Amino acid sequence: MVTTREIHLASRPAGEPSPANFDLVVAELPEPGEGQVLVRNTWMSVDPYMRGRMDDVESYIPPFRLGAVLEGSAVGEVVASRSPQVPVGATVVHFAGWREHAVLDDAAVTVADTDLAPAEAYLGVLGTTGLTAYAALTEVAPVRRGDVVWISAAAGAVGGVAGQLARKLGAARVIGSAGGPVKAGKLVQDFGYDAAIDYRAGSLREQLAQAAPDGIDVYLDNVGGDHLAAALDALRPGARIAMVGAISSYNATEPVPGPANLFRLAAKDASLRGMLVNTYFPLFPEWIGKAAGWLADGSLYTELTVAEGLEQAPAAFLDVLRGGNVGKMLVRL
Ligand SMILES: NC(=O)c1ccc[n+]([C@@H]2O[C@H](COP(=O)([O-])OP(=O)(O)OC[C@H]3O[C@@H](n4cnc5c(N)ncnc54)[C@H](OP(=O)(O)O)[C@@H]3O)[C@@H](O)[C@H]2O)c1
Repeated sequence: MVTTREIHLASRPAGEPSPANFDLVVAELPEPGEGQVLVRNTWMSVDPYMRGRMDDVESYIPPFRLGAVLEGSAVGEVVASRSPQVPVGATVVHFAGWREHAVLDDAAVTVADTDLAPAEAYLGVLGTTGLTAYAALTEVAPVRRGDVVWISAAAGAVGGVAGQLARKLGAARVIGSAGGPVKAGKLVQDFGYDAAIDYRAGSLREQLAQAAPDGIDVYLDNVGGDHLAAALDALRPGARIAMVGAISSYNATEPVPGPANLFRLAAKDASLRGMLVNTYFPLFPEWIGKAAGWLADGSLYTELTVAEGLEQAPAAFLDVLRGGNVGKMLVRL
Protein backbone atom coordinates (compact mmCIF):
# COMPACT_ATOMS: atom_id res chain seq x y z
CA MET A 1 0.00 0.00 0.00
CA VAL A 2 1.14 3.55 -0.77
CA THR A 3 -0.19 6.48 1.21
CA THR A 4 -0.87 9.60 -0.84
CA ARG A 5 -2.78 12.89 -0.71
CA GLU A 6 -5.59 13.90 -3.06
CA ILE A 7 -7.92 16.84 -3.62
CA HIS A 8 -11.61 15.85 -3.56
CA LEU A 9 -14.71 17.79 -4.58
CA ALA A 10 -16.35 18.65 -1.23
CA SER A 11 -19.34 20.57 -2.64
CA ARG A 12 -20.54 22.15 -5.87
CA PRO A 13 -20.19 25.94 -6.17
CA ALA A 14 -22.96 28.39 -6.99
CA GLY A 15 -21.18 31.10 -8.96
CA GLU A 16 -17.53 31.62 -8.10
CA PRO A 17 -15.94 28.56 -6.45
CA SER A 18 -14.21 28.91 -3.08
CA PRO A 19 -11.67 26.87 -1.07
CA ALA A 20 -14.62 25.30 0.80
CA ASN A 21 -15.53 23.38 -2.37
CA PHE A 22 -12.33 21.31 -2.02
CA ASP A 23 -11.03 18.78 0.51
CA LEU A 24 -7.46 17.56 1.02
CA VAL A 25 -7.75 13.83 1.73
CA VAL A 26 -5.19 11.17 2.67
CA ALA A 27 -5.75 7.99 0.67
CA GLU A 28 -4.27 4.50 0.38
CA LEU A 29 -3.36 3.16 -3.06
CA PRO A 30 -3.00 -0.52 -3.98
CA GLU A 31 0.27 -1.92 -5.32
CA PRO A 32 0.36 -1.74 -9.13
CA GLY A 33 -1.06 -4.86 -10.78
CA GLU A 34 0.09 -6.55 -13.98
CA GLY A 35 0.43 -3.90 -16.74
CA GLN A 36 0.23 -1.04 -14.26
CA VAL A 37 2.62 1.62 -12.98
CA LEU A 38 2.87 3.69 -9.80
CA VAL A 39 3.49 7.34 -10.67
CA ARG A 40 4.73 10.06 -8.32
CA ASN A 41 3.26 13.24 -9.75
CA THR A 42 5.69 16.15 -10.06
CA TRP A 43 3.45 18.76 -11.76
CA MET A 44 -0.30 19.13 -12.27
CA SER A 45 -2.35 21.49 -14.37
CA VAL A 46 -5.25 23.67 -13.30
CA ASP A 47 -7.43 24.80 -16.20
CA PRO A 48 -10.51 26.99 -16.68
CA TYR A 49 -12.56 24.10 -18.15
CA MET A 50 -12.46 22.41 -14.74
CA ARG A 51 -14.97 25.01 -13.53
CA GLY A 52 -17.58 23.41 -15.80
CA ARG A 53 -16.83 19.99 -14.35
CA MET A 54 -17.68 21.24 -10.86
CA ASP A 55 -21.32 21.64 -11.94
CA ASP A 56 -23.64 18.65 -12.22
CA VAL A 57 -24.49 19.25 -15.89
CA GLU A 58 -24.09 17.20 -19.02
CA SER A 59 -21.18 18.31 -21.20
CA TYR A 60 -18.47 16.89 -23.46
CA ILE A 61 -16.82 15.47 -20.32
CA PRO A 62 -18.59 14.12 -17.21
CA PRO A 63 -18.88 16.29 -14.09
CA PHE A 64 -16.49 15.74 -11.17
CA ARG A 65 -18.12 13.44 -8.63
CA LEU A 66 -18.92 14.75 -5.15
CA GLY A 67 -16.60 13.28 -2.53
CA ALA A 68 -14.27 11.82 -5.17
CA VAL A 69 -10.79 12.83 -6.29
CA LEU A 70 -10.66 15.46 -9.05
CA GLU A 71 -8.77 14.75 -12.26
CA GLY A 72 -6.83 16.61 -14.92
CA SER A 73 -3.51 16.63 -16.74
CA ALA A 74 -0.36 15.86 -14.77
CA VAL A 75 3.18 14.66 -15.28
CA GLY A 76 5.11 12.40 -12.98
CA GLU A 77 7.88 9.91 -12.55
CA VAL A 78 7.29 6.16 -12.64
CA VAL A 79 8.46 4.82 -9.27
CA ALA A 80 7.23 1.22 -9.62
CA SER A 81 6.33 -0.65 -12.76
CA ARG A 82 4.78 -3.96 -13.75
CA SER A 83 4.70 -2.91 -17.40
CA PRO A 84 7.39 -3.82 -19.93
CA GLN A 85 6.44 -0.68 -21.91
CA VAL A 86 6.93 1.88 -19.15
CA PRO A 87 10.10 1.49 -17.07
CA VAL A 88 10.83 2.87 -13.61
CA GLY A 89 12.30 6.37 -13.99
CA ALA A 90 10.24 7.28 -17.08
CA THR A 91 8.52 10.67 -17.10
CA VAL A 92 4.88 10.21 -18.05
CA VAL A 93 1.96 12.46 -18.96
CA HIS A 94 -1.50 11.32 -17.88
CA PHE A 95 -4.90 12.51 -16.61
CA ALA A 96 -4.68 11.60 -12.91
CA GLY A 97 -3.83 15.04 -11.55
CA TRP A 98 -4.99 16.61 -8.24
CA ARG A 99 -3.10 13.88 -6.31
CA GLU A 100 0.49 13.13 -5.39
CA HIS A 101 0.57 9.50 -6.56
CA ALA A 102 -1.51 7.39 -8.91
CA VAL A 103 -1.66 3.73 -9.92
CA LEU A 104 -2.40 3.67 -13.64
CA ASP A 105 -2.69 1.21 -16.51
CA ASP A 106 0.24 1.60 -18.89
CA ALA A 107 -2.23 2.49 -21.66
CA ALA A 108 -3.30 5.53 -19.63
CA VAL A 109 0.17 7.13 -19.61
CA THR A 110 2.34 8.58 -22.38
CA VAL A 111 6.10 8.66 -21.95
CA ALA A 112 7.39 12.25 -22.40
CA ASP A 113 10.70 13.01 -24.10
CA THR A 114 12.43 15.23 -21.51
CA ASP A 115 15.42 15.71 -23.84
CA LEU A 116 13.07 17.81 -25.99
CA ALA A 117 11.73 20.01 -23.19
CA PRO A 118 11.28 19.87 -19.39
CA ALA A 119 8.47 17.67 -18.10
CA GLU A 120 6.23 20.61 -17.18
CA ALA A 121 6.23 21.89 -20.79
CA TYR A 122 4.00 18.90 -21.63
CA LEU A 123 1.26 20.49 -19.50
CA GLY A 124 1.49 23.84 -21.30
CA VAL A 125 3.11 24.79 -24.56
CA LEU A 126 3.67 21.15 -25.63
CA GLY A 127 0.36 20.05 -24.09
CA THR A 128 -3.27 20.80 -24.75
CA THR A 129 -3.09 24.59 -24.33
CA GLY A 130 -0.32 24.89 -26.94
CA LEU A 131 -2.19 22.51 -29.23
CA THR A 132 -5.37 24.58 -28.76
CA ALA A 133 -3.58 27.69 -30.06
CA TYR A 134 -2.18 25.70 -32.99
CA ALA A 135 -5.50 24.09 -33.97
CA ALA A 136 -7.39 27.37 -33.58
CA LEU A 137 -5.08 29.33 -35.86
CA THR A 138 -4.33 26.65 -38.46
CA GLU A 139 -7.60 24.67 -38.70
CA VAL A 140 -10.51 26.55 -37.12
CA ALA A 141 -9.77 30.18 -38.00
CA PRO A 142 -6.70 29.86 -40.21
CA VAL A 143 -4.33 32.83 -40.25
CA ARG A 144 -3.31 33.96 -43.72
CA ARG A 145 -0.35 36.09 -44.74
CA GLY A 146 -1.03 39.78 -44.03
CA ASP A 147 -3.93 39.19 -41.60
CA VAL A 148 -4.78 41.38 -38.63
CA VAL A 149 -5.33 39.04 -35.69
CA TRP A 150 -6.81 39.62 -32.22
CA ILE A 151 -6.27 37.19 -29.36
CA SER A 152 -8.15 37.61 -26.03
CA ALA A 153 -6.85 36.37 -22.65
CA ALA A 154 -3.62 36.97 -24.52
CA ALA A 155 -1.25 36.67 -21.56
CA GLY A 156 -2.59 33.25 -20.57
CA ALA A 157 -1.60 29.72 -21.53
CA VAL A 158 -3.42 29.53 -24.89
CA GLY A 159 -3.10 33.26 -25.60
CA GLY A 160 0.61 33.54 -24.83
CA VAL A 161 1.38 30.94 -27.48
CA ALA A 162 -1.31 32.04 -29.95
CA GLY A 163 0.01 35.58 -30.50
CA GLN A 164 3.48 34.36 -31.40
CA LEU A 165 2.06 31.60 -33.56
CA ALA A 166 -0.12 34.07 -35.48
CA ARG A 167 3.04 35.99 -36.36
CA LYS A 168 4.84 32.81 -37.45
CA LEU A 169 1.84 32.02 -39.67
CA GLY A 170 2.27 35.33 -41.48
CA ALA A 171 -0.01 37.79 -39.66
CA ALA A 172 0.84 41.42 -40.38
CA ARG A 173 -0.43 42.74 -37.04
CA VAL A 174 -1.21 40.86 -33.85
CA ILE A 175 -3.26 42.46 -31.07
CA GLY A 176 -3.64 41.00 -27.60
CA SER A 177 -6.03 41.88 -24.78
CA ALA A 178 -5.66 41.16 -21.09
CA GLY A 179 -6.72 42.54 -17.72
CA GLY A 180 -4.60 45.28 -16.12
CA PRO A 181 -1.59 47.40 -17.09
CA VAL A 182 1.06 44.88 -16.01
CA LYS A 183 -0.26 42.15 -18.28
CA ALA A 184 -0.86 44.64 -21.10
CA GLY A 185 2.79 45.71 -20.84
CA LYS A 186 3.97 42.10 -20.92
CA LEU A 187 1.93 41.39 -24.04
CA VAL A 188 4.12 43.73 -26.05
CA GLN A 189 7.43 43.38 -24.18
CA ASP A 190 7.51 39.62 -23.62
CA PHE A 191 4.87 37.91 -25.74
CA GLY A 192 5.67 39.87 -28.92
CA TYR A 193 2.24 41.44 -29.58
CA ASP A 194 2.20 44.59 -31.74
CA ALA A 195 -0.47 46.24 -29.62
CA ALA A 196 -2.09 45.53 -26.28
CA ILE A 197 -5.55 46.26 -24.96
CA ASP A 198 -6.21 46.44 -21.22
CA TYR A 199 -9.89 45.53 -21.23
CA ARG A 200 -10.31 46.94 -17.74
CA ALA A 201 -9.03 50.39 -18.78
CA GLY A 202 -11.99 51.56 -20.86
CA SER A 203 -14.18 50.69 -23.81
CA LEU A 204 -13.04 47.49 -25.50
CA ARG A 205 -14.62 48.55 -28.81
CA GLU A 206 -12.80 51.89 -28.80
CA GLN A 207 -9.47 50.34 -27.86
CA LEU A 208 -9.88 47.70 -30.56
CA ALA A 209 -10.76 50.34 -33.16
CA GLN A 210 -7.58 52.18 -32.22
CA ALA A 211 -5.41 49.06 -32.35
CA ALA A 212 -6.98 47.78 -35.59
CA PRO A 213 -8.39 50.84 -37.44
CA ASP A 214 -9.18 48.77 -40.56
CA GLY A 215 -10.68 45.85 -38.65
CA ILE A 216 -9.60 42.28 -37.96
CA ASP A 217 -9.34 39.14 -40.10
CA VAL A 218 -9.03 36.58 -37.31
CA TYR A 219 -10.24 36.57 -33.70
CA LEU A 220 -9.29 33.81 -31.26
CA ASP A 221 -11.97 34.08 -28.57
CA ASN A 222 -11.00 32.86 -25.11
CA VAL A 223 -13.45 35.12 -23.29
CA GLY A 224 -16.89 35.43 -24.97
CA GLY A 225 -19.38 38.11 -23.84
CA ASP A 226 -18.34 41.70 -24.53
CA HIS A 227 -15.09 40.52 -26.18
CA LEU A 228 -16.94 38.48 -28.79
CA ALA A 229 -19.36 41.34 -29.41
CA ALA A 230 -16.44 43.77 -29.95
CA ALA A 231 -14.81 41.35 -32.38
CA LEU A 232 -18.04 40.96 -34.41
CA ASP A 233 -18.18 44.74 -34.85
CA ALA A 234 -14.59 44.85 -36.11
CA LEU A 235 -14.72 42.04 -38.68
CA ARG A 236 -13.29 42.54 -42.13
CA PRO A 237 -14.91 40.75 -45.09
CA GLY A 238 -14.16 37.01 -44.97
CA ALA A 239 -12.99 37.14 -41.34
CA ARG A 240 -12.80 34.04 -39.15
CA ILE A 241 -13.51 33.62 -35.44
CA ALA A 242 -12.37 30.58 -33.44
CA MET A 243 -14.64 30.09 -30.41
CA VAL A 244 -12.14 28.53 -28.02
CA GLY A 245 -13.43 29.61 -24.61
CA ALA A 246 -15.94 31.89 -22.88
CA ILE A 247 -14.30 32.37 -19.50
CA SER A 248 -16.26 35.56 -18.78
CA SER A 249 -19.34 33.38 -18.22
CA TYR A 250 -17.92 30.29 -16.47
CA ASN A 251 -19.15 31.46 -13.05
CA ALA A 252 -22.51 32.72 -14.34
CA THR A 253 -25.53 31.55 -12.37
CA GLU A 254 -28.06 32.51 -15.07
CA PRO A 255 -28.00 31.72 -18.82
CA VAL A 256 -25.80 34.26 -20.60
CA PRO A 257 -27.30 36.01 -23.66
CA GLY A 258 -25.50 35.70 -26.98
CA PRO A 259 -24.07 38.79 -28.71
CA ALA A 260 -26.75 41.15 -30.06
CA ASN A 261 -24.66 41.76 -33.19
CA LEU A 262 -24.21 38.12 -34.28
CA PHE A 263 -25.68 38.91 -37.71
CA ARG A 264 -22.49 40.86 -38.51
CA LEU A 265 -21.18 37.45 -39.56
CA ALA A 266 -23.53 37.46 -42.54
CA ALA A 267 -22.83 41.07 -43.44
CA LYS A 268 -19.09 40.33 -43.47
CA ASP A 269 -19.27 36.90 -45.10
CA ALA A 270 -17.47 35.75 -41.98
CA SER A 271 -17.35 32.51 -40.02
CA LEU A 272 -17.50 31.61 -36.33
CA ARG A 273 -16.51 28.07 -35.48
CA GLY A 274 -16.20 26.37 -32.11
CA MET A 275 -13.51 23.88 -31.30
CA LEU A 276 -12.70 21.16 -28.80
CA VAL A 277 -8.99 20.48 -28.59
CA ASN A 278 -9.51 16.70 -28.23
CA THR A 279 -10.63 16.59 -31.86
CA TYR A 280 -7.18 17.83 -32.84
CA PHE A 281 -5.09 15.37 -30.78
CA PRO A 282 -3.84 13.76 -34.04
CA LEU A 283 -1.97 17.06 -34.60
CA PHE A 284 0.06 16.57 -31.39
CA PRO A 285 3.21 15.12 -33.05
CA GLU A 286 3.21 17.89 -35.68
CA TRP A 287 2.72 20.60 -33.03
CA ILE A 288 5.26 19.19 -30.57
CA GLY A 289 7.83 18.94 -33.39
CA LYS A 290 7.35 22.58 -34.37
CA ALA A 291 7.02 24.03 -30.88
CA ALA A 292 10.00 22.12 -29.46
CA GLY A 293 12.11 23.48 -32.32
CA TRP A 294 10.98 27.04 -31.57
CA LEU A 295 11.63 26.58 -27.85
CA ALA A 296 15.13 25.33 -28.66
CA ASP A 297 15.95 28.21 -31.03
CA GLY A 298 14.50 30.76 -28.61
CA SER A 299 11.80 32.03 -30.98
CA LEU A 300 8.86 30.96 -28.78
CA TYR A 301 8.59 32.72 -25.42
CA THR A 302 6.71 30.99 -22.60
CA GLU A 303 6.00 31.75 -18.98
CA LEU A 304 4.70 29.69 -16.09
CA THR A 305 2.94 30.77 -12.92
CA VAL A 306 3.78 28.14 -10.33
CA ALA A 307 2.01 27.27 -7.08
CA GLU A 308 3.90 25.04 -4.67
CA GLY A 309 2.38 21.89 -3.19
CA LEU A 310 -0.88 19.98 -3.54
CA GLU A 311 -2.50 22.00 -0.75
CA GLN A 312 -2.16 25.10 -2.97
CA ALA A 313 -3.90 23.47 -5.96
CA PRO A 314 -7.43 24.76 -5.19
CA ALA A 315 -6.11 28.33 -4.70
CA ALA A 316 -4.16 28.07 -7.96
CA PHE A 317 -7.31 26.97 -9.76
CA LEU A 318 -9.36 29.83 -8.26
CA ASP A 319 -6.56 32.20 -9.28
CA VAL A 320 -6.57 31.13 -12.93
CA LEU A 321 -10.29 31.94 -13.13
CA ARG A 322 -9.57 35.42 -11.71
CA GLY A 323 -6.55 36.16 -13.89
CA GLY A 324 -3.84 35.56 -11.29
CA ASN A 325 -1.64 33.81 -13.86
CA VAL A 326 0.73 34.88 -16.60
CA GLY A 327 1.34 32.05 -19.07
CA LYS A 328 0.40 28.55 -17.93
CA MET A 329 -0.71 28.09 -14.33
CA LEU A 330 0.79 24.91 -12.85
CA VAL A 331 1.17 23.32 -9.44
CA ARG A 332 4.54 21.78 -8.54
CA LEU A 333 4.00 18.74 -6.32
N1 LIG B 1 -11.93 24.65 -26.69
C1 LIG B 1 -10.94 23.97 -26.12
O1 LIG B 1 -10.69 22.81 -26.40
C2 LIG B 1 -10.09 24.69 -25.11
C3 LIG B 1 -8.85 24.17 -24.70
C4 LIG B 1 -8.08 24.91 -23.78
C5 LIG B 1 -8.57 26.10 -23.28
N2 LIG B 1 -9.79 26.53 -23.67
C6 LIG B 1 -10.32 27.82 -23.20
O2 LIG B 1 -9.39 28.81 -23.56
C7 LIG B 1 -9.41 29.87 -22.62
C8 LIG B 1 -8.02 30.10 -22.09
O3 LIG B 1 -7.61 28.94 -21.38
P1 LIG B 1 -6.16 28.88 -20.70
O4 LIG B 1 -6.00 27.52 -20.17
O5 LIG B 1 -5.17 29.43 -21.65
O6 LIG B 1 -6.35 29.87 -19.48
P2 LIG B 1 -5.53 31.19 -19.20
O7 LIG B 1 -5.77 32.13 -20.33
O8 LIG B 1 -4.14 30.85 -18.86
O9 LIG B 1 -6.24 31.73 -17.90
C9 LIG B 1 -7.51 32.25 -17.95
C10 LIG B 1 -7.45 33.77 -18.15
O10 LIG B 1 -8.73 34.25 -18.47
C11 LIG B 1 -8.79 35.62 -18.17
N3 LIG B 1 -10.11 35.99 -17.65
C12 LIG B 1 -10.76 35.53 -16.56
N4 LIG B 1 -11.96 36.12 -16.43
C13 LIG B 1 -12.08 36.99 -17.46
C14 LIG B 1 -13.09 37.90 -17.87
N5 LIG B 1 -14.25 38.03 -17.19
N6 LIG B 1 -12.87 38.65 -18.98
C15 LIG B 1 -11.72 38.53 -19.67
N7 LIG B 1 -10.72 37.68 -19.34
C16 LIG B 1 -10.90 36.91 -18.24
C17 LIG B 1 -7.70 35.89 -17.12
O11 LIG B 1 -6.75 36.76 -17.71
P3 LIG B 1 -6.87 38.36 -17.53
O12 LIG B 1 -6.03 38.69 -16.34
O13 LIG B 1 -6.33 38.87 -18.81
O14 LIG B 1 -8.31 38.69 -17.30
C18 LIG B 1 -7.08 34.52 -16.90
O15 LIG B 1 -5.69 34.59 -16.69
C19 LIG B 1 -10.43 29.47 -21.56
O16 LIG B 1 -11.67 30.05 -21.88
C20 LIG B 1 -10.50 27.96 -21.71
O17 LIG B 1 -11.71 27.44 -21.24
C21 LIG B 1 -10.56 25.86 -24.56
